[in-house]
Amino acid sequence: TVDEELDEGILINDPGIREAAALLREGRLVAFPTETVYGLGADARSEEAVSAIYRAKGRPSDNPLIVHIADLNQLKEWVGKVPPLGQALIRRFWPGPLTLVLRYRRGLASQVTAGLSTVGVRMPAHPVSLALLRAAGVPVAAPSANQSGKPSPTEADHVWDDLAGRIDGLLDGGPTGVGVESTVVDVTGEVPILLRPGGVTLDRLRKVAGRVDVDPGLEQEGEAPRSPGMKYRHYAPQGEMWLVMGEGEALRRRMAELARQASQAGNRVGILTTEENQSVYQADKVLSLGSRKDPASVARNLYAALRTCDDARLDVIYAEAFPMEGVYHSVMNRLLKAAEGRVIPAE
Ligand code: TXA
Ligand code: MG
Repeated sequence: TVDEELDEGILINDPGIREAAALLREGRLVAFPTETVYGLGADARSEEAVSAIYRAKGRPSDNPLIVHIADLNQLKEWVGKVPPLGQALIRRFWPGPLTLVLRYRRGLASQVTAGLSTVGVRMPAHPVSLALLRAAGVPVAAPSANQSGKPSPTEADHVWDDLAGRIDGLLDGGPTGVGVESTVVDVTGEVPILLRPGGVTLDRLRKVAGRVDVDPGLEQEGEAPRSPGMKYRHYAPQGEMWLVMGEGEALRRRMAELARQASQAGNRVGILTTEENQSVYQADKVLSLGSRKDPASVARNLYAALRTCDDARLDVIYAEAFPMEGVYHSVMNRLLKAAEGRVIPAE
């Protein structure tokens, strides 16, 4: 385990990081922590290494990868000019949980962009990822290090469960801090477009960029998302998940009633709730995501909780909804996917 307290200047000489960096340079696959989720990295310039990522994950070939860098100079070679709003977002949020979709020029393995004329790039903030990227000295293509269709890994154990035997290295940096993936923003047009809500909230983006539109494909049924990854069934637990919309006493009453009925029908029932309501429910598994007043805690614990639902072999899971604002915007986006759109109003 690499101590997160160490700064990347010390980490760069850490034997684990040096070994991982050498593997990346040899075209092998290395999983590593970022501040959002664990990534599965490979040299973004190598056709073979990048296609190995798709094989290891079982990832559909039309879903492009994010390129991770530690140095802005790396950008110049393979993307065109970064537009002014993109530059402003970079100054404010890099390193950090923001991926920018930029115009692609040349120089990367073709599967990184999955044939698009754009490329997603981010500079992660985790000291281990920065040290690894510096030590490797190559741009690193890295999707989340889960098996395709599973929740993204927020602990090294999750990576191991999904990918043991399919990867060449795994750096353990402990649990990740943000817990949901980076925010993806397309800055190739006049107005930036949010393609995937994530670690950087819409409010914070708008403070820097002014107007930011939300991809209609994110929230409307029947509209194709502009980010290929958002169209796939994702994060869905094996049990049938329902998102219960509402708040306060009405929400608690409805959740409790649904759990009771499902139990009586012979199901193994799970509840996703928060500290505030945890003691209210009776079910086979009652999981607290954190405090309702602390959205960051809910985001941080979400994916581990979804994995626990599978481990507990639940048939039905009822999850409390959150208000569609701030960090909860990305939490709700992931919960809606996990529930495959199944929602129940509390009243
Ligand atoms: O936080 C994160 O972003 C993590 C860590 C490892 O950095 N990575 C991650 O990668 O979540 P992945 O591959 O699981 O998700 C990448 C998302 C997908 O939805 C993909 O379709 C989208 O970004 N994407 C990548 N390149 C794109 C592009 N050129 N245009 C539109 N969407 C793009
Ligand atoms: Mg992913």
